[in-house]
Amino acid sequence: MISSKSKEEIYNIIEKRKNMETPLMMILSDIQNKFGYIDLEVQQIVAEALNIPVSEIYGVVTFYSYFSLKPKGKYVISTCFGTACYVKGTQGIIDEFCNKLKIKPGETTEDGLFSIDILRCVGACSLAPVVTVNGKIYPHVKIADVDKIIKEYKDKEVLMNENS
Ligand code: FES
Repeated sequence: MISSKSKEEIYNIIEKRKNMETPLMMILSDIQNKFGYIDLEVQQIVAEALNIPVSEIYGVVTFYSYFSLKPKGKYVISTCFGTACYVKGTQGIIDEFCNKLKIKPGETTEDGLFSIDILRCVGACSLAPVVTVNGKIYPHVKIADVDKIIKEYKDKEVLMNENS
């Protein structure tokens, strides 16, 4: 259940964007950025405020991989599935992340730490295949690097827990 503070933030976003030329995409992008997901409850709030069917919003949220229906993990591993990365072996890297984390693309690990996303070209084709974690770019990734990347963030968590 969404808090009244979050509801207010959503209404503020809608108010700010509703008179734009393509308000729905702008509103959904802002909400995704702010909360990390757009579940059915949030979709209903937006639908009522804009007076459009919730099915229209659901269609947009599920069509674009940028949007997520569920909260994402603390560390979002984004694998590029653009042509250059695909040719250089992205599929094997995605499979390795999935095997190691025991989740599929679009899912989040049970401990809430990791999600795997698949993106279209991220604009760094000369570095293919590319993986990003919360925006940090890993260039020329090999299957053997997958373990190291996951470990980097697991170690970070251990360190944070020790210092808290
Ligand atoms: S195809 Fe992956 S960065 Fe362009």
